[in-house]
Amino acid sequence: MKKYKWGILAPGKMSAKFTKGLKLLKNTELYAVGSRDLKRARLFASDYGFEKYYGSYEELASDKSLEIVYIASPHSYHHEHTMLCLRNGKNVICEKAFALNAKEVKEMVIEAKKQNVFLMEALWPPFQPFYKKANEILKSGILGKIVHLDGYFSFIPPYHPDDRKFNLALGGGSLLDIGIYPVIDALTFLGVPSDIKATAIFGDTGSEESLSVIFSYQDGRMASLYSSFRTNIGIGCEIYCEKGNLTVTRGRDMNQKVILELHGSEKQEFVFNPPAMGYHWEGEEVMKCLDKGLIESPVVPLSFSLDLIKTLDRIRKAAGIVFPGRD
Ligand SMILES: NC(=O)c1ccc[n+]([C@@H]2O[C@H](COP(=O)([O-])OP(=O)(O)OC[C@H]3O[C@@H](n4cnc5c(N)ncnc54)[C@H](OP(=O)(O)O)[C@@H]3O)[C@@H](O)[C@H]2O)c1
Repeated sequence: MKKYKWGILAPGKMSAKFTKGLKLLKNTELYAVGSRDLKRARLFASDYGFEKYYGSYEELASDKSLEIVYIASPHSYHHEHTMLCLRNGKNVICEKAFALNAKEVKEMVIEAKKQNVFLMEALWPPFQPFYKKANEILKSGILGKIVHLDGYFSFIPPYHPDDRKFNLALGGGSLLDIGIYPVIDALTFLGVPSDIKATAIFGDTGSEESLSVIFSYQDGRMASLYSSFRTNIGIGCEIYCEKGNLTVTRGRDMNQKVILELHGSEKQEFVFNPPAMGYHWEGEEVMKCLDKGLIESPVVPLSFSLDLIKTLDRIRKAAGIVFPGRD
Protein backbone atom coordinates (compact mmCIF):
# COMPACT_ATOMS: atom_id res chain seq x y z
CA MET A 1 0.00 0.00 0.00
CA LYS A 2 1.41 3.35 -1.02
CA LYS A 3 1.53 5.97 1.76
CA TYR A 4 1.06 9.64 0.83
CA LYS A 5 2.88 12.58 2.41
CA TRP A 6 0.26 15.18 3.44
CA GLY A 7 0.74 18.85 4.14
CA ILE A 8 -1.61 21.31 5.83
CA LEU A 9 -1.66 24.89 4.55
CA ALA A 10 -3.20 27.28 7.14
CA PRO A 11 -3.54 25.38 10.42
CA GLY A 12 -6.79 26.89 11.72
CA LYS A 13 -9.91 25.30 13.19
CA MET A 14 -10.95 23.36 10.09
CA SER A 15 -7.43 22.02 9.52
CA ALA A 16 -7.54 20.50 13.01
CA LYS A 17 -10.79 18.67 12.20
CA PHE A 18 -9.51 17.50 8.82
CA THR A 19 -6.27 16.23 10.35
CA LYS A 20 -8.24 14.16 12.90
CA GLY A 21 -9.90 12.56 9.86
CA LEU A 22 -6.55 11.93 8.14
CA LYS A 23 -5.34 10.16 11.28
CA LEU A 24 -7.98 7.46 10.71
CA LEU A 25 -6.47 6.54 7.33
CA LYS A 26 -3.69 3.96 7.13
CA ASN A 27 -2.13 5.32 3.93
CA THR A 28 -1.51 8.89 5.17
CA GLU A 29 1.77 10.22 6.44
CA LEU A 30 1.31 13.46 8.41
CA TYR A 31 4.31 15.16 6.84
CA ALA A 32 4.33 18.99 7.00
CA VAL A 33 2.46 22.08 8.18
CA GLY A 34 2.74 25.59 6.73
CA SER A 35 1.54 28.66 8.59
CA ARG A 36 2.18 32.40 8.22
CA ASP A 37 3.71 32.05 11.68
CA LEU A 38 6.45 29.54 12.47
CA LYS A 39 5.30 29.13 16.09
CA ARG A 40 1.76 28.24 15.01
CA ALA A 41 3.13 25.74 12.49
CA ARG A 42 5.36 24.16 15.16
CA LEU A 43 2.50 23.93 17.68
CA PHE A 44 0.11 22.34 15.17
CA ALA A 45 2.82 19.92 14.01
CA SER A 46 3.53 18.84 17.59
CA ASP A 47 -0.18 18.64 18.54
CA TYR A 48 -1.01 16.33 15.63
CA GLY A 49 2.29 14.57 14.96
CA PHE A 50 3.57 16.14 11.71
CA GLU A 51 7.21 15.60 10.86
CA LYS A 52 8.02 19.09 9.51
CA TYR A 53 6.77 22.65 9.90
CA TYR A 54 7.32 25.88 7.99
CA GLY A 55 6.72 29.57 8.76
CA SER A 56 5.47 30.34 5.25
CA TYR A 57 3.18 28.75 2.70
CA GLU A 58 5.86 29.15 0.01
CA GLU A 59 8.31 26.96 1.96
CA LEU A 60 5.62 24.32 2.46
CA ALA A 61 4.65 24.30 -1.23
CA SER A 62 8.26 24.00 -2.38
CA ASP A 63 9.08 20.97 -0.18
CA LYS A 64 10.08 18.40 -2.79
CA SER A 65 8.83 15.36 -0.82
CA LEU A 66 5.34 16.73 -0.09
CA GLU A 67 2.65 15.04 -2.23
CA ILE A 68 -0.81 16.32 -1.21
CA VAL A 69 -1.75 19.70 0.29
CA TYR A 70 -4.97 20.42 2.17
CA ILE A 71 -5.76 24.15 2.00
CA ALA A 72 -7.98 25.76 4.65
CA SER A 73 -7.19 29.46 4.52
CA PRO A 74 -9.97 32.11 4.32
CA HIS A 75 -12.02 32.09 1.07
CA SER A 76 -10.29 35.11 -0.48
CA TYR A 77 -6.93 33.24 -0.42
CA HIS A 78 -8.03 29.90 -1.88
CA HIS A 79 -7.18 30.91 -5.45
CA GLU A 80 -3.71 32.27 -4.54
CA HIS A 81 -2.81 29.34 -2.26
CA THR A 82 -4.13 26.68 -4.66
CA MET A 83 -2.20 28.23 -7.56
CA LEU A 84 0.95 28.31 -5.40
CA CYS A 85 0.67 24.60 -4.64
CA LEU A 86 -0.33 23.55 -8.17
CA ARG A 87 2.58 25.50 -9.70
CA ASN A 88 4.86 23.57 -7.34
CA GLY A 89 3.45 20.33 -8.74
CA LYS A 90 1.42 19.41 -5.63
CA ASN A 91 -1.88 17.56 -5.54
CA VAL A 92 -4.46 19.80 -3.88
CA ILE A 93 -7.67 19.48 -1.92
CA CYS A 94 -8.93 22.98 -1.11
CA GLU A 95 -11.77 23.92 1.22
CA LYS A 96 -15.06 25.39 0.08
CA ALA A 97 -15.80 27.90 -1.25
CA PHE A 98 -13.20 26.88 -3.87
CA ALA A 99 -12.49 30.57 -4.68
CA LEU A 100 -14.32 33.92 -4.75
CA ASN A 101 -15.65 33.68 -8.31
CA ALA A 102 -15.86 31.46 -11.40
CA LYS A 103 -12.94 33.18 -13.16
CA GLU A 104 -10.63 32.14 -10.30
CA VAL A 105 -11.90 28.55 -10.23
CA LYS A 106 -11.44 28.24 -14.01
CA GLU A 107 -7.80 29.33 -13.64
CA MET A 108 -7.25 26.73 -10.91
CA VAL A 109 -8.75 23.97 -13.09
CA ILE A 110 -6.59 24.98 -16.08
CA GLU A 111 -3.44 25.05 -13.93
CA ALA A 112 -4.15 21.59 -12.42
CA LYS A 113 -4.57 20.13 -15.91
CA LYS A 114 -1.42 21.91 -17.15
CA GLN A 115 0.62 20.52 -14.24
CA ASN A 116 -1.14 17.14 -14.50
CA VAL A 117 -1.88 17.10 -10.76
CA PHE A 118 -4.98 16.27 -8.73
CA LEU A 119 -7.42 19.02 -7.71
CA MET A 120 -10.65 18.72 -5.71
CA GLU A 121 -12.88 21.05 -3.72
CA ALA A 122 -13.26 19.77 -0.15
CA LEU A 123 -17.03 19.25 -0.21
CA TRP A 124 -18.23 17.30 2.79
CA PRO A 125 -21.81 16.25 1.90
CA PRO A 126 -21.20 14.02 -1.17
CA PHE A 127 -19.12 11.58 0.93
CA GLN A 128 -21.57 11.25 3.80
CA PRO A 129 -23.90 8.29 4.43
CA PHE A 130 -26.96 10.52 4.94
CA TYR A 131 -26.45 12.14 1.54
CA LYS A 132 -26.03 8.78 -0.12
CA LYS A 133 -29.19 7.53 1.65
CA ALA A 134 -31.18 10.58 0.54
CA ASN A 135 -30.01 10.15 -3.05
CA GLU A 136 -30.87 6.45 -2.96
CA ILE A 137 -34.42 7.15 -1.69
CA LEU A 138 -35.03 9.93 -4.23
CA LYS A 139 -33.70 7.83 -7.10
CA SER A 140 -35.82 4.79 -6.07
CA GLY A 141 -38.93 6.73 -7.19
CA ILE A 142 -40.84 5.88 -3.99
CA LEU A 143 -41.53 9.60 -3.36
CA GLY A 144 -42.42 10.46 -6.96
CA LYS A 145 -41.05 13.66 -8.44
CA ILE A 146 -39.53 16.46 -6.36
CA VAL A 147 -41.79 19.53 -6.25
CA HIS A 148 -39.97 21.86 -3.85
CA LEU A 149 -36.75 21.96 -1.83
CA ASP A 150 -36.37 24.11 1.26
CA GLY A 151 -32.68 24.37 2.27
CA TYR A 152 -31.27 26.24 5.26
CA PHE A 153 -28.08 26.75 7.26
CA SER A 154 -28.00 29.33 10.02
CA PHE A 155 -26.31 29.90 13.35
CA ILE A 156 -25.20 32.91 15.39
CA PRO A 157 -21.38 33.04 15.60
CA PRO A 158 -19.51 35.36 17.98
CA TYR A 159 -19.17 38.69 16.20
CA HIS A 160 -15.82 40.24 15.37
CA PRO A 161 -15.35 42.51 12.33
CA ASP A 162 -11.96 40.88 11.57
CA ASP A 163 -13.31 37.32 11.71
CA ARG A 164 -13.29 35.67 8.28
CA LYS A 165 -17.07 35.22 8.52
CA PHE A 166 -17.66 38.99 8.67
CA ASN A 167 -14.55 40.48 7.02
CA LEU A 168 -15.34 41.23 3.38
CA ALA A 169 -11.64 41.21 2.45
CA LEU A 170 -11.50 37.55 3.57
CA GLY A 171 -14.57 36.58 1.51
CA GLY A 172 -16.89 37.05 4.51
CA GLY A 173 -20.67 36.67 4.46
CA SER A 174 -23.04 33.77 5.02
CA LEU A 175 -23.15 32.67 1.36
CA LEU A 176 -19.63 31.25 0.89
CA ASP A 177 -19.37 30.03 4.48
CA ILE A 178 -22.71 28.29 5.11
CA GLY A 179 -25.17 29.30 2.36
CA ILE A 180 -23.08 27.19 0.00
CA TYR A 181 -24.57 24.04 1.61
CA PRO A 182 -28.24 24.66 0.68
CA VAL A 183 -26.93 25.58 -2.79
CA ILE A 184 -25.10 22.22 -2.96
CA ASP A 185 -28.35 20.49 -1.86
CA ALA A 186 -30.31 22.17 -4.66
CA LEU A 187 -27.65 21.43 -7.30
CA THR A 188 -27.35 17.80 -6.16
CA PHE A 189 -31.05 16.99 -5.91
CA LEU A 190 -32.53 19.35 -8.54
CA GLY A 191 -29.68 20.52 -10.82
CA VAL A 192 -28.69 23.97 -12.10
CA PRO A 193 -31.68 26.37 -11.94
CA SER A 194 -32.95 28.33 -14.92
CA ASP A 195 -33.73 31.43 -12.83
CA ILE A 196 -32.39 32.84 -9.55
CA LYS A 197 -33.83 35.56 -7.33
CA ALA A 198 -32.07 36.64 -4.12
CA THR A 199 -32.13 39.27 -1.39
CA ALA A 200 -29.44 39.92 1.21
CA ILE A 201 -29.16 41.87 4.47
CA PHE A 202 -25.75 43.47 5.05
CA GLY A 203 -23.96 44.12 8.37
CA ASP A 204 -21.61 46.88 9.58
CA THR A 205 -18.55 45.48 7.76
CA GLY A 206 -20.43 45.50 4.42
CA SER A 207 -20.58 41.70 4.36
CA GLU A 208 -23.89 39.93 3.90
CA GLU A 209 -25.27 38.39 7.12
CA SER A 210 -28.61 36.97 5.93
CA LEU A 211 -29.59 35.72 2.53
CA SER A 212 -32.77 34.37 0.93
CA VAL A 213 -32.60 32.77 -2.50
CA ILE A 214 -35.23 31.31 -4.84
CA PHE A 215 -34.26 28.89 -7.59
CA SER A 216 -36.77 28.04 -10.29
CA TYR A 217 -36.61 25.33 -12.91
CA GLN A 218 -38.24 25.20 -16.33
CA ASP A 219 -40.39 22.20 -15.36
CA GLY A 220 -41.99 24.10 -12.45
CA ARG A 221 -39.85 22.81 -9.57
CA MET A 222 -38.56 25.40 -7.08
CA ALA A 223 -36.10 25.70 -4.21
CA SER A 224 -36.00 28.28 -1.42
CA LEU A 225 -32.62 28.60 0.25
CA TYR A 226 -31.69 30.53 3.36
CA SER A 227 -28.47 31.24 5.20
CA SER A 228 -27.80 33.58 8.09
CA PHE A 229 -25.45 34.53 10.93
CA ARG A 230 -28.39 36.23 12.68
CA THR A 231 -30.67 33.28 13.44
CA ASN A 232 -30.18 29.79 14.76
CA ILE A 233 -32.36 27.56 12.60
CA GLY A 234 -29.95 24.68 12.06
CA ILE A 235 -28.73 22.84 9.00
CA GLY A 236 -30.59 20.78 6.44
CA CYS A 237 -33.17 20.60 3.74
CA GLU A 238 -36.76 19.46 3.39
CA ILE A 239 -37.55 17.91 0.05
CA TYR A 240 -41.27 17.96 -0.78
CA CYS A 241 -42.29 15.39 -3.35
CA GLU A 242 -45.50 14.15 -5.03
CA LYS A 243 -45.92 11.18 -2.66
CA GLY A 244 -44.27 12.40 0.54
CA ASN A 245 -41.38 14.33 2.02
CA LEU A 246 -37.74 13.75 2.88
CA THR A 247 -35.83 15.63 5.59
CA VAL A 248 -32.04 15.60 5.20
CA THR A 249 -30.45 17.14 8.24
CA ARG A 250 -27.34 17.27 10.40
CA GLY A 251 -26.28 18.77 13.70
CA ARG A 252 -23.30 21.08 14.12
CA ASP A 253 -21.43 18.03 15.43
CA MET A 254 -22.20 16.50 11.99
CA ASN A 255 -24.47 13.71 13.30
CA GLN A 256 -26.72 12.95 10.38
CA LYS A 257 -30.39 12.13 9.90
CA VAL A 258 -32.70 11.33 7.01
CA ILE A 259 -36.45 11.22 7.71
CA LEU A 260 -38.74 9.64 5.15
CA GLU A 261 -42.44 10.48 5.40
CA LEU A 262 -44.65 8.91 2.76
CA HIS A 263 -48.17 10.43 2.68
CA GLY A 264 -50.37 8.37 5.00
CA SER A 265 -47.49 6.28 6.45
CA GLU A 266 -45.38 6.32 9.62
CA LYS A 267 -42.13 8.29 9.53
CA GLN A 268 -38.93 6.30 8.99
CA GLU A 269 -35.68 7.66 10.44
CA PHE A 270 -32.13 6.83 9.37
CA VAL A 271 -29.38 8.07 11.71
CA PHE A 272 -25.63 8.13 11.05
CA ASN A 273 -22.77 9.17 13.34
CA PRO A 274 -19.54 8.82 11.36
CA PRO A 275 -16.15 8.96 13.09
CA ALA A 276 -14.09 12.19 12.83
CA MET A 277 -17.31 13.93 11.69
CA GLY A 278 -16.90 12.09 8.37
CA TYR A 279 -14.02 14.29 7.19
CA HIS A 280 -11.71 11.33 6.52
CA TRP A 281 -13.68 10.28 3.41
CA GLU A 282 -12.49 13.40 1.53
CA GLY A 283 -8.84 12.55 2.27
CA GLU A 284 -9.47 8.91 1.37
CA GLU A 285 -10.96 9.99 -1.99
CA VAL A 286 -7.83 12.00 -2.92
CA MET A 287 -5.61 8.96 -2.31
CA LYS A 288 -8.02 6.54 -4.03
CA CYS A 289 -7.90 8.76 -7.13
CA LEU A 290 -4.11 9.07 -7.03
CA ASP A 291 -3.78 5.28 -6.65
CA LYS A 292 -5.82 4.96 -9.87
CA GLY A 293 -3.84 7.68 -11.67
CA LEU A 294 -6.83 10.07 -11.69
CA ILE A 295 -6.34 13.84 -11.40
CA GLU A 296 -10.02 14.51 -10.76
CA SER A 297 -12.54 12.92 -8.40
CA PRO A 298 -15.61 11.20 -9.88
CA VAL A 299 -17.43 11.99 -6.59
CA VAL A 300 -16.72 15.76 -6.68
CA PRO A 301 -15.76 16.41 -10.31
CA LEU A 302 -14.38 19.81 -11.26
CA SER A 303 -17.48 20.30 -13.45
CA PHE A 304 -19.58 20.24 -10.24
CA SER A 305 -17.29 22.83 -8.61
CA LEU A 306 -17.61 25.01 -11.73
CA ASP A 307 -21.42 24.71 -11.68
CA LEU A 308 -21.35 25.54 -7.99
CA ILE A 309 -19.20 28.67 -8.25
CA LYS A 310 -21.12 29.91 -11.32
CA THR A 311 -24.35 29.50 -9.32
CA LEU A 312 -22.81 31.35 -6.35
CA ASP A 313 -21.81 34.16 -8.75
CA ARG A 314 -25.41 34.34 -10.05
CA ILE A 315 -26.74 34.51 -6.48
CA ARG A 316 -24.28 37.28 -5.59
CA LYS A 317 -25.30 39.25 -8.68
CA ALA A 318 -29.01 38.85 -7.85
CA ALA A 319 -28.48 39.87 -4.20
CA GLY A 320 -25.94 42.65 -4.81
CA ILE A 321 -23.11 40.88 -2.94
CA VAL A 322 -19.76 42.23 -4.15
CA PHE A 323 -16.18 41.36 -3.20
CA PRO A 324 -14.43 44.61 -4.10
CA GLY A 325 -11.89 44.13 -6.92
CA ARG A 326 -12.66 40.41 -7.22
CA ASP A 327 -15.84 40.21 -9.37
N1 LIG B 1 -15.95 21.60 5.29
C1 LIG B 1 -16.39 22.08 6.43
O1 LIG B 1 -17.21 21.45 7.11
C2 LIG B 1 -15.86 23.38 6.92
C3 LIG B 1 -16.11 23.80 8.24
C4 LIG B 1 -15.53 24.99 8.68
C5 LIG B 1 -14.75 25.74 7.81
N2 LIG B 1 -14.55 25.31 6.53
C6 LIG B 1 -13.72 26.08 5.59
O2 LIG B 1 -12.37 26.00 6.03
C7 LIG B 1 -11.69 27.22 5.70
C8 LIG B 1 -11.03 27.76 6.96
O3 LIG B 1 -12.00 27.95 7.95
P1 LIG B 1 -11.60 27.97 9.52
O4 LIG B 1 -12.88 28.02 10.25
O5 LIG B 1 -10.63 26.90 9.82
O6 LIG B 1 -10.88 29.38 9.63
P2 LIG B 1 -9.81 29.85 10.71
O7 LIG B 1 -9.93 29.03 11.95
O8 LIG B 1 -9.96 31.32 10.79
O9 LIG B 1 -8.43 29.47 10.03
C9 LIG B 1 -8.00 30.03 8.84
C10 LIG B 1 -6.49 29.98 8.81
O10 LIG B 1 -6.07 30.64 7.61
C11 LIG B 1 -4.80 31.23 7.82
N3 LIG B 1 -4.84 32.59 7.22
C12 LIG B 1 -4.14 32.97 6.13
N4 LIG B 1 -4.36 34.25 5.84
C13 LIG B 1 -5.20 34.72 6.78
C14 LIG B 1 -5.76 35.99 7.03
N5 LIG B 1 -5.48 37.06 6.26
N6 LIG B 1 -6.59 36.12 8.08
C15 LIG B 1 -6.89 35.07 8.86
N7 LIG B 1 -6.37 33.82 8.68
C16 LIG B 1 -5.53 33.64 7.65
C17 LIG B 1 -4.55 31.24 9.31
O11 LIG B 1 -3.49 30.31 9.55
P3 LIG B 1 -1.95 30.76 9.70
O12 LIG B 1 -1.94 32.26 9.88
O13 LIG B 1 -1.48 30.02 10.88
O14 LIG B 1 -1.29 30.36 8.44
C18 LIG B 1 -5.82 30.73 9.95
O15 LIG B 1 -5.59 29.88 11.03
C19 LIG B 1 -12.73 28.11 5.06
O16 LIG B 1 -12.65 27.96 3.67
C20 LIG B 1 -14.06 27.54 5.54
O17 LIG B 1 -15.14 27.79 4.67
C21 LIG B 1 -15.07 24.13 6.10
